[in-house]
Amino acid sequence: MIHQTLKPFPKDFLWGASTSAYQVEGASLEDGKGPSFQDTKELPPGTADLTVSVDHYHRYKEDIALMAEMGFKAYHFSISWSRVLPEGIGKVNPKGIEFYNNLIDECLKYDIEPIITMFHFDMPAALEEKGSWSNAESSEWFKEFAQVLFENYGDRVKYWLTINEQNMMTLVGQLIGTLRVPEATTNLTKEIYQQNHHQLVAQAKAMQLCHEMLPQAKIGPAPNIALAYPNGNRPEDIIAEQNANAIRNWLYLDMAVYGRYNNLVWAYLEAKDATPTFAPGDAEVLKAAKPDFIAFNYYTSFTVEASDGSEQIDDKFADQQSAMSEPGYYRSVQNQNLKKTEFGWEIDPVGFRATMRALYDRYQLPLLVTENGIGAYDELTADGKVHDPYRIVYLREHIAQIQKAISDGVEMLGYNPWSAIDLISTHEGIKKRYGFIYVDRDEFDLKTLKRYRKDSFYWYKKVIATNGQDLSDQF
Ligand code: BG6
Repeated sequence: MIHQTLKPFPKDFLWGASTSAYQVEGASLEDGKGPSFQDTKELPPGTADLTVSVDHYHRYKEDIALMAEMGFKAYHFSISWSRVLPEGIGKVNPKGIEFYNNLIDECLKYDIEPIITMFHFDMPAALEEKGSWSNAESSEWFKEFAQVLFENYGDRVKYWLTINEQNMMTLVGQLIGTLRVPEATTNLTKEIYQQNHHQLVAQAKAMQLCHEMLPQAKIGPAPNIALAYPNGNRPEDIIAEQNANAIRNWLYLDMAVYGRYNNLVWAYLEAKDATPTFAPGDAEVLKAAKPDFIAFNYYTSFTVEASDGSEQIDDKFADQQSAMSEPGYYRSVQNQNLKKTEFGWEIDPVGFRATMRALYDRYQLPLLVTENGIGAYDELTADGKVHDPYRIVYLREHIAQIQKAISDGVEMLGYNPWSAIDLISTHEGIKKRYGFIYVDRDEFDLKTLKRYRKDSFYWYKKVIATNGQDLSDQF
């Protein structure tokens, strides 16, 4: 579909960017914060620990002033569960509550809309010890946490996201380190999908509670959605593509929006003797909860072909984006039409439009982009500059596709790429940078932690000032 005239971005479009608590804050055990699993996990070799991260906890005022200078309309961040509830449940930490009050107020001072993710890969260590998401009580723990957040911040926060990338925790939880497997586990797939079920119930309870407590607020899920393509036009590849989309994408949103398991995924789980057990009341809770919008993270698309089930798949090195295959259901392959980032992720702006179209077609809910971006080895020059033309190209091409999707009739709420400021990657340290703002530290040397504006900072400022109309190279 070629549009002769593109529709403009909506006037109140939420231009901003994203971070997550453990990747940006630091102060990992300060002011009463309890440890989260991120503080107790084994670090991938050669990567920074998370005690200081980029020290947003102490420097949030400076950071938000820089975001305001870029013209941000929104700042999407997550709340550390164990900062507000050090044990995960029970006693609230007043200093933790105060920190997020200050952060929210600082955003509002500049008319920046705070968009909050409730859970981003950081289960309180105290709840890890109780079995984490494998414990059927986890949905009640999450509801208690949600209630604390709504009570304390609901007067000012309009946009809430439940669980970041639940699908990645399910599909690659071992790699990003979020998966806890009880010792007695015999069927790993069943265990993983039982945990996934508890998360779905937790999300549904939080959505319902939000609507009860905060009728003006909006809440939605936040999976990582990458549309799967068939590799060629063999009919078997189309079946593989449908399997891949169901398992990677639709399971999570069909449940969030329609309150039912996707039938292809259910058949897949039956074949593996891995269907989740429903506790009494789960079906009703899942059915009753409704999101107001869909938030999603997009980095790339995903190409698959038929799998006859005989191949040996080594997914040990798969991450959020790279190859994921399911023998007998789909085999992921490289897409020869796409270039890759320095870290091996395929770059597919047109796939972004295709993903937005598919999401809207399927769910008819407004969309909010909560992550998108390019990880790269940025360099600080001697005169304090960071020239990151690759980031400008990546963002420009993706933003252009949003405008096309808007012109296709897709309702878009905002764009919050990853990341507002450099932070620690999920498993590749600080050397893999995403921010508009460079932070002077490296893997093991904290250096000055000083902030520098990258070229992309000035460019994005211009994009926001023109409400997405000027995407040219000049800044
Ligand atoms: C998303 C996560 O999967 O991708 C973020 O929500 C993460 O936490 C981002 O940082 C980029 O991935 P990575 O592995 O390069 O840090």
